[in-house]
Amino acid sequence: MSYVERTLGLIKPDAIAAGHVGKILDRIIQAGFRIVALRMVYLTRAQAEAFYAVHRSRPFFEDLVQFMTSGPVIAFVLEKENAVLHYRALMGATDPAQAAPGTLRALFGQSVERNAVHGSDSPENARREIAFFFSESELVAAQALTPLSA
Ligand code: CMP
Repeated sequence: MSYVERTLGLIKPDAIAAGHVGKILDRIIQAGFRIVALRMVYLTRAQAEAFYAVHRSRPFFEDLVQFMTSGPVIAFVLEKENAVLHYRALMGATDPAQAAPGTLRALFGQSVERNAVHGSDSPENARREIAFFFSESELVAAQALTPLSA
């Protein structure tokens, strides 16, 4: 069954530094997602550790936190039917070398760590991750995004 859902996405420091922000957002919009919130933030170490807390015991955790605090990230909330699944398909596999051609990570990622974008992996985590970056009043009502001519 498909229903309108929200997911949290990030453009990571590598993709911002490489000048890929416009191309990534354009592909997301062209794929039919509505952007209902968006902002650029510098994560503190404590924020990066909290965001990736589920990976705390993994060997790559320290490098991941360092990388995610090495520059700004762009956080956004996307809305679409089955947004979590659809955005994960648009991103491609975590490792850009394994990602399907045409996916964001295949196009813009450099390595499994510097993989250009993040997306929530379940509706439950999407709710947690959206609340991590945005308050309820910052999420634009979907009908406000419908073009006047539509
Ligand atoms: P992301 O979708 O942001 O979620 C967790 C991140 O950890 C993941 O993307 C990768 O950037 C990173 N990651 C996952 N596995 C590895 C790994 N084996 N080595 C380094 N980084 C990893």
